[in-house]
Amino acid sequence: MRRTRLPAGFVLGAATAAYQVEGAWDEDGKGESIWDRFAHTPGAIADGSTGDVACDEYHRYPEDAALLRELGLGAYRFSVSWPRIVPAADGRVNRAGLDHYDRLVDELLGHGITPYPTLFHWDLPQWVQDAGGWADRSVIGRLAAYADTVVRVLGDRVATWTVLNEPQIFVVLGYAAGIHAPGLRDPALALRASHVVNLAHAEAVRAVRAAAPAARIGSAFKVEAAYPATDDPRDGAAAERHHALVAGWFLDPLLRGRYPVAYVDQEAAIASMDIRPGDMEAMATRFDFLGLNVYSRAIVAHDDAGGPSAIRRLAGPGPRTAIGWEVWPAALHRIVRRIDRDYGHPPIYITENGCAARDGPGPDGRIHDADRVAYLHGHIGQLARAIDDGCDVRGYFAWSLLDNFEWAEGYGQRFGVVWCGFDDGGRRIVKDSGWWLRDLAASGEIDYDDSLA
Ligand code: FCB
Repeated sequence: MRRTRLPAGFVLGAATAAYQVEGAWDEDGKGESIWDRFAHTPGAIADGSTGDVACDEYHRYPEDAALLRELGLGAYRFSVSWPRIVPAADGRVNRAGLDHYDRLVDELLGHGITPYPTLFHWDLPQWVQDAGGWADRSVIGRLAAYADTVVRVLGDRVATWTVLNEPQIFVVLGYAAGIHAPGLRDPALALRASHVVNLAHAEAVRAVRAAAPAARIGSAFKVEAAYPATDDPRDGAAAERHHALVAGWFLDPLLRGRYPVAYVDQEAAIASMDIRPGDMEAMATRFDFLGLNVYSRAIVAHDDAGGPSAIRRLAGPGPRTAIGWEVWPAALHRIVRRIDRDYGHPPIYITENGCAARDGPGPDGRIHDADRVAYLHGHIGQLARAIDDGCDVRGYFAWSLLDNFEWAEGYGQRFGVVWCGFDDGGRRIVKDSGWWLRDLAASGEIDYDDSLA
């Protein structure tokens, strides 16, 4: 084990997303989002729940800002709800929606907490979906206009903008697998939509940069280190295709001018995507940082029966969290090193990392989430190892500040470092993991095992 110190100025924070915590789903002129529509569809969510109330953060944000301060966390990553700002197809801006984030930002700053807003964390306005959603190019101008509106209002107090959260997940789970809103099961449509997302992403980055030239702009990408199942080169190639599908597909067109090889018949895939003259140029982008959402890893084998990418995922030997994801802290070190190498040593933030457990208050009224403490320790340790190796990592956000609405899983999977009593008036109780983060913030010191692979 090695003991080390996090760099001076390292940002330690916690993250949430609007639909998962806010509630107030139809208040103050908010329009319907695809997640409102989806969660209200019988059978869509594991426990039949919705985000109608969630953690009621829309009303309780002063309490949550105070909690962040109590935990010594210097930064809060939250997302802005697009349908609060632009509720309907006429494009009118809802001032009451903007006012909420105005107040939230002021509240955070009042507590000495730096706001890290994300512009889009999956709650697409239903009216945008009705016009074709991410599969229709009209979304490109709409996202840019929305981004411009928000950045002009908050930009005097916000220095760092995250544009999209996990484009890969909202395209694949929303358009191909039907597990997330809008619940479509159309892989061909998802592939075309991925290209529109990339175009819209680049255009939104331009809009934010034009509205706030001095701001630092990035996005949060889902990444997971892909470990080949064996040293057979075919498994190695399959692991590369997996990495390309998850990460490269949404990074490379923006940063390297091409789509990575993710399909056995790559030419056919590309030919089906409606790529038009000028698109590759229009996608060229520059980020001031890359946000990485890291939870687990993938063990990948070549399998001819494994769909258009000929991939099969294998279960690993590591322990599993309540949601079934393997715990493998070294995967965080590995993926940060890879992103550092592939994209020219960019500034990196871990924009999400955390684990699900079925926590609840014990007889002493407290929450002893030892598994989560071990998870955070292991992962932040491996992050520190990547920093000691020379990667330019600027910060880490725990997912999540609060237990919240975990999308298709509903309220059954608790990711918070603070417990939320959904049947108990929304009461908050700091878990042991929250106090552990406070101690880390105070000491700035962590140890890690540099023999893990
Ligand atoms: C990520 C999402 C986040 C949360 C975690 C557990 O994919 O970005 O909203 O649900 O997973």
